[in-house]
Amino acid sequence: MSSIIEDLIARKIFNSRGEETIEVDVITTGGFGRASAPAGKSRGKAEVTYYPQGGVEQAVKKVDELIAPELAGLNSDFQEEIDNTLHELDGTADFKNIGGNTACAISLANAEAAANSHGLLLFQFMGGNAATTLPYPLGNCLSGGEHARGKAPDIQEYLALPHGAETFLEAQTANTQIHRKIGEALKKKSSLFNGGKSDEGAWIANIDTVDAFDVIAKACEEVGNELDFECGFGIDVAASALWKPKEEKYFYANEGKKRDTAEQLELMIELIEKYHLTYVEDPFQEEDYESFAALTRKVKNCLICGDDLFTTNTERLNNGIKINAGNAIIIKVNQIGTLSDAAQTIETAQRYGYSPVVSHRSGDTCDWHIAHLAVAYKCPLIKTGVVEGARIAKLNELIRIEHFLADRAKMADLKIR
Ligand code: PGA
Ligand code: ZN
Repeated sequence: MSSIIEDLIARKIFNSRGEETIEVDVITTGGFGRASAPAGKSRGKAEVTYYPQGGVEQAVKKVDELIAPELAGLNSDFQEEIDNTLHELDGTADFKNIGGNTACAISLANAEAAANSHGLLLFQFMGGNAATTLPYPLGNCLSGGEHARGKAPDIQEYLALPHGAETFLEAQTANTQIHRKIGEALKKKSSLFNGGKSDEGAWIANIDTVDAFDVIAKACEEVGNELDFECGFGIDVAASALWKPKEEKYFYANEGKKRDTAEQLELMIELIEKYHLTYVEDPFQEEDYESFAALTRKVKNCLICGDDLFTTNTERLNNGIKINAGNAIIIKVNQIGTLSDAAQTIETAQRYGYSPVVSHRSGDTCDWHIAHLAVAYKCPLIKTGVVEGARIAKLNELIRIEHFLADRAKMADLKIR
């Protein structure tokens, strides 16, 4: 057997924000896997704990002293057994002892080591011969909210979605052109624009929430015309960051407006209709399943996606499924800890008609495993930036996968047409 775990090696590295993070190597008798964990800035309250007390240093120590000796001798092919062992060694519901980011890096590195031990690429190992669909790239072009500083739109992310593209390469080409056009438009609009970008490589501009819609809408239309396929866009409202529980209102600081839940619902419907949005993430605060359900009932041809709402957690997704809250779910492995947990959430989502959207985090590394996860599980979308090293690492990996699959490659069904 060539896939028996021999050793784990953990180290402290840095993410794209310059924050400490963990990287883990898994060495088997016939292969090798390496993965590192990302970090969010606008985190959901229900996410697992990233690190044990003592941070990354303590996490590395736990891998060396506790986890590596326990995993040595196990077969990396059995991902669930590895992930269950991580849960057992941790012993808490939210990875407080070993850290969710520790679990995430080990889990992904193990999957990679298993695939490598069999001479396969990760998406082939996880998804078999049926894994031939490429996700559409949801590309963050314009930043606001907690991802920006100073006077910027209240909405956190404006995301290009080139849903008419016939290949992944075409889709990413469109996103880069939309991103570039937006930069040019912002420069024309204001002499104060200095080309600043957010952690995710999206532009930060001193414009208001509504202007931002017009700028991205125009860029998408122009690029769509030039490339001769439809390019739409969506938003991540990250509404938990706008929500003030005491007043029970959403505070739009830039706009100078407060909205109660009913007004928030109205605004979302208005924006979806006016700009033909194909994707809206976290339109309401993270405990308001009912409003997610109300919006899902009211709009057509638009994915209503829960990020902070679900935090990649099957139980929270099941709460949503009961009342049809949303029709899409963000999948961030480090929100829940292990690949098996994330896979279970993806499978539950698919069983109930929710579209899984595999996603980067705002603080990320050049780790590209989520590209393989998207293909292996036939996820229709991958959410990343458009530019910036940690984002490009994932996007270029998808271009490689598409190239590798050649004639067998096809784009996913977005279910929004
Ligand atoms: P993050 O959030 O900063 O927690 O990665 C991005 C998002 O809200 O999608
Ligand atoms: Zn989000």
